[in-house]
Amino acid sequence: MTLILGIETSCDETAASIVRDGTAVLCNVVSSQNELHQKYHGVVPEIASRAHLERILPVVNEALARAGVTFEQIDAVAVGNRPGLIGSLLVGVSAAKAIAWAAGKPLIGVDHIQAHLHAAALFEPASGNAPGAPKAELPFPALGLVVSGGHSSLYAVESPTRMQLLGKTIDDAVGEAYDKAAVILDAGYPGGPKLDKLAQTGDPKAYDLPRSLLGPESLDFSFSGLKTALLYKVRGLPVGRGEKAAFSRTAADLSAKEKADLAAAFQHAAVETVIAKLARGLDFLAAQGKPAQSLLIGGGVSANSLLRVRVQELGQQRGIAVGVPKMAYCLDNAAMIAGLAYYQLREGRSDDLELPAIATTSM
Ligand code: KG4
Ligand code: ZN
Repeated sequence: MTLILGIETSCDETAASIVRDGTAVLCNVVSSQNELHQKYHGVVPEIASRAHLERILPVVNEALARAGVTFEQIDAVAVGNRPGLIGSLLVGVSAAKAIAWAAGKPLIGVDHIQAHLHAAALFEPASGNAPGAPKAELPFPALGLVVSGGHSSLYAVESPTRMQLLGKTIDDAVGEAYDKAAVILDAGYPGGPKLDKLAQTGDPKAYDLPRSLLGPESLDFSFSGLKTALLYKVRGLPVGRGEKAAFSRTAADLSAKEKADLAAAFQHAAVETVIAKLARGLDFLAAQGKPAQSLLIGGGVSANSLLRVRVQELGQQRGIAVGVPKMAYCLDNAAMIAGLAYYQLREGRSDDLELPAIATTSM
């Protein structure tokens, strides 16, 4: 039995978790900073890193207490060390190094994006630390999709630790587009879940918004055109350019029905674009002679109500298994970090105390 303590502080969630043998989550502690960033309509990096500093040790202590384990019983300490906000990452990385050094345990740096693709494999064993039935493993190779605030990327996934990028966004990530659309529609913060909820009350056919698929074979994504089209539907065409651009209306001029319909039209355009790219990705892998045995999704936007339904439908149409994370593991969490670290450790991969925090991804 291998117990790994995971730490995650890449953006605005301070999280710690203890995971057994890569998939059994003994506890998943997440301290969200939503209330601190709400009035700015987005994450303020300096505020985020200060809050991580204040919260990291109580969050780690709570994880140990909830799982009923001590530092001595942990086999390794894992931390999401890339990509993310550099000041935020540094807090988690420093805490993980200190714990690993003091407890004499291996340190494992984990890629946050890769970890999102492991989230669908996580489950809670029936009785805490006692062995429970593991969730059936999804077959590889898989087509992986990470849709979050910073990424919209497709991967050919060979195993939990090996994957190749097939396509990514050329402008906004889908979660970023959701967050900006929520500001345009004055739908509240955090934008993604608020817009998702509003969209469920609207008629998606009431407005026509563009679905950008790029070239006929492209596996890349683009969401800035959709966001701008929504902006113009809400505020009218701008008069003047750049900073001097002035609009004739704002979201306050819309009726509740117009707002809900626009949210629904946005949601359908965004999700159908993602589904079209997944279908293309499956065709691409089949044409390469490496057909995907399953479809894996992860990242904050995998919590989206419409996307969850449409991905299952696509899997059924193609006759392949679908891995969608439980809601608790869609958003940033440390269970996915501790879980993936188990597979890295099994391959003999661990890090020394020089482990850097890296703002960008190599994937
Ligand atoms: O993975 P995540 O927690 O952080 C990053 O690594 O970026 O993803 C956060 C993103 C935000 O953009 C948020 O608006 C979006 O996920 N999100 C959603 C939903 N829940 C969260 N987007 C659409 N529908 C949702 N239900
Ligand atoms: Zn994330």
